[in-house]
Amino acid sequence: MEADQEHGRAPRTVPRKSAPRLSVVVPTRNEAANLCQLRDELERALAGVDHEVVVVDDSSDATTRPLLARISSEAPHWHVVERSPAEQTGLATAVTTGLALAQGDAVCVMDGDLQHPPEVAPRLLRAVEAGADLAVASRYVEGGEASGLVSGYRQLVSRGSRWAAFAMFPESRRTSDPLTGFFCVRRSAVAGLELRPVGFKVLLELLVLCPGLKTVDVPFVFGRRLEGQSKASARQGLLFLRHLVSLFLHVPESSHALKFALVSLCSLAVFQGAFDSLARTALPLLVIWAAASLASSLLNAVLQRHLTFRSHWRRPLLYRAFGSSGSLAGLAVYAALLWASPRHPTLMAGVAQAIALAIPMTVNLLSVRRWFRVGTAGSPNRLEELGRRLEVDTAWWSEPAPEPLDARRRELAPAGLEELIRHCAASTIPDLVVQSPSDRPQPRRNIESLSAIMVPKPEVGRVAVLVRRSVKPFTAADLEQAVRLLHGSELEAEGAALQLRVAKP
Ligand code: GDD
Ligand code: MN
Repeated sequence: MEADQEHGRAPRTVPRKSAPRLSVVVPTRNEAANLCQLRDELERALAGVDHEVVVVDDSSDATTRPLLARISSEAPHWHVVERSPAEQTGLATAVTTGLALAQGDAVCVMDGDLQHPPEVAPRLLRAVEAGADLAVASRYVEGGEASGLVSGYRQLVSRGSRWAAFAMFPESRRTSDPLTGFFCVRRSAVAGLELRPVGFKVLLELLVLCPGLKTVDVPFVFGRRLEGQSKASARQGLLFLRHLVSLFLHVPESSHALKFALVSLCSLAVFQGAFDSLARTALPLLVIWAAASLASSLLNAVLQRHLTFRSHWRRPLLYRAFGSSGSLAGLAVYAALLWASPRHPTLMAGVAQAIALAIPMTVNLLSVRRWFRVGTAGSPNRLEELGRRLEVDTAWWSEPAPEPLDARRRELAPAGLEELIRHCAASTIPDLVVQSPSDRPQPRRNIESLSAIMVPKPEVGRVAVLVRRSVKPFTAADLEQAVRLLHGSELEAEGAALQLRVAKP
């Protein structure tokens, strides 16, 4: 099976007969002083491994590009992408460009300045070939070292950034070094994933987007930069912060617990503010409490729905969980607390509202737990696994409004599939379409049909598309299996509307 490799950039093809075992992606900017040694060490380390090297270069000096041209003319498995000034949008996009072009079964990303020792690359490859989806070269496990970060200041920034990532994204804790630029990933495990990192930290984005990746750490010593200059700067620091915020806000499944806690705190603060200002009026305390609680609970409902549980917008249960009448019960609690402790009306008001917010949660505890747990359903892994089980010819995550299919897919897919995908994305109803070659009264069993399954995933804004050209087209049972695997069992429990349609040319 083949999965989508378009990462939003015009694909430049790297001609090749079959997939190599490993692609090494190297972003470079003005690294002429390091490149020859890098090539020698990398080739020595990878002797016996069928590999290619994809260099994505943003150099502005006079020497790097001529040198790269010479290296790639001498070694045909070295491919160089020279990005134009307009395309030079930083290290992270250089890496995603390289990832999109890489053909290897595994893809290793490493710096071009020798701070990432090439001899570690085969160890990363072995880890992936032994079953990991992602092998991370880590400075922070036993045997690893960050000594190449020369100044105390950079050590501090590196450690601080790492803790910030850990604190915000539990997803990143599956490795000890989520901010390293040295890692190796099974290509099929991230195929079709749209990466939009800003700054330097592609790996963090991978970890947050794909919490399901099986990850292992491989220790390495981050060496000193001997030649050339580091491009790290205060601006990179700001970009890193922007990247954190972007992952937090725009990845629907990210950082559930923190979003939940922040929204709850914010709702309580609104309650306290409203209560305090109303307390200056002559209104009775219980009325004040009810008004403040209503405002706070509404805010909580809206924010939890649109921030914390955004990806679950098809579940009406959610409204019952957060928008329902916890306040009514809270009012009774407040009356009781006032009676028990009449000297602390404000404190008791806050306590009662905290309870009011917690009541619907507790009532729906089982569902809430489930919402917290799901999170890997959008992982491309699942699509790959599903593709294998259903013996598809090709599968990919499609945009809701896809471009015309390329020639290969067009040959395998039922006619008008783009339109059907669009329809499926808009209706959010999974769909199956079978295009049989004829409607002769005597059906010929040996004639191939074209069939496609489409499963929308609104939370990731994509539609999973699976296509099979075979004498045995997909059946409703296949569609059900696809829905179950891609959405987890909860959708089944809700009785997802399955639609079966048979198209005839
Ligand atoms: N194509 C391209 N475009 N490459 C770039 C750019 C760019 O804008 N900026 C930097 N590079 C290349 C460099 O040429 C080098 O090969 C690699 O990316 C790393 O850049 P350095 O400037 O050497 O970064 P660093 O050593 O400060 O940062 C490294 O350490 C971090 C961990 O502390 C990088 O490896 C990071 O990836 C790593 O996270
Ligand atoms: Mn460096």
